[in-house]
Amino acid sequence: MTEALKPYLKERVKIVDKALNGFLPKASVRPATVHEAMRYSLFAGGKRLRPILSLAAAEACDGSYENALAPAAAVECLHTYTLIHDDLPCMDDDDLRRGMPTCHVKFGEGVAVLAGDGLLTISFEILAKTPPTKRYDVGAYVTELAVASGSRNLIGGQILDLEGEGSDVLLTPAQLKFIHQSKTAALLTASIRLGAMSANATPKKLEALTTYGQSLGLAFQVIDDILDVTQTSEKLGKSAGKDEASNKSTYPALFGLEKSRKEAARLTKQAHEALKPFGKKGRRLSEIADYLLDRDY
Ligand code: IPE
Ligand code: IPE
Ligand code: MG
Ligand code: MG
Ligand code: MG
Repeated sequence: MTEALKPYLKERVKIVDKALNGFLPKASVRPATVHEAMRYSLFAGGKRLRPILSLAAAEACDGSYENALAPAAAVECLHTYTLIHDDLPCMDDDDLRRGMPTCHVKFGEGVAVLAGDGLLTISFEILAKTPPTKRYDVGAYVTELAVASGSRNLIGGQILDLEGEGSDVLLTPAQLKFIHQSKTAALLTASIRLGAMSANATPKKLEALTTYGQSLGLAFQVIDDILDVTQTSEKLGKSAGKDEASNKSTYPALFGLEKSRKEAARLTKQAHEALKPFGKKGRRLSEIADYLLDRDY
């Protein structure tokens, strides 16, 4: 990570956390169990990558990050719901997330399912607070997030991921790419697009950022697959070695580590290229792409 990016990310995490805290019902609000569980998973840690991308995209489009706070908080709530459900015994069956016991381990399965539902639902409540611009109304924001997180994208990717595990036969490269694009890159791209939309981005800029997001998002999941093989649970804050143990088709399983790393680097380069029209204004987005490629958790 460049020296300049470190304080930037630190400050952004603070801004995002403050916004999330303001948008979420207090833990004492009735019924406290669900709000406690929602807050437990949301504030357990996490890189806050998606909301930071929303803020950075707004600024790359000459907007203020303040107008992007609602979409930023919305995508982080939605992302956290996907993590809670992804960890359930009926899915990846994980007991560690963000360095803490998973939501269902801490609160029980029923509460974890409902806390996930609560985060999913409130993400749209929060998103609807985004100020409309000349080009984008609240309906456009809601549609963007609903499509990215729905059955044709994120949920669809999770379904195929689930169906593909536990088999001796690996998926084809094309099938795996489709899963990664759906389960991960779609929400990442929407996070970026929503930030840009809150800044009234021109269709041309939105298109360039879409290309950036798709490349970055796919690279992100390839790296997630690599880290599952190369890092410890302690470092990751989630259980390492899980993909191989559940016979998942992943980039390292299909191509090996070296080829997977090369693919992640190639995708990151593609992301950089998409930022060219932004010139200096794309600097943060460009630095974030490098940081994600080099990350070790
Ligand atoms: C983990 O996402 C799930 C994937 C899509 C790979 P992150 O690596 O962004 O998780 P947090 O938010 O930092 O915990
Ligand atoms: C999760 O992919 C993608 C979503 C949560 C939508 P993984 O199952 O690889 O994520 P981790 O490794 O558990 O964070
Ligand atoms: Mg999973
Ligand atoms: Mg998982
Ligand atoms: Mg993973």
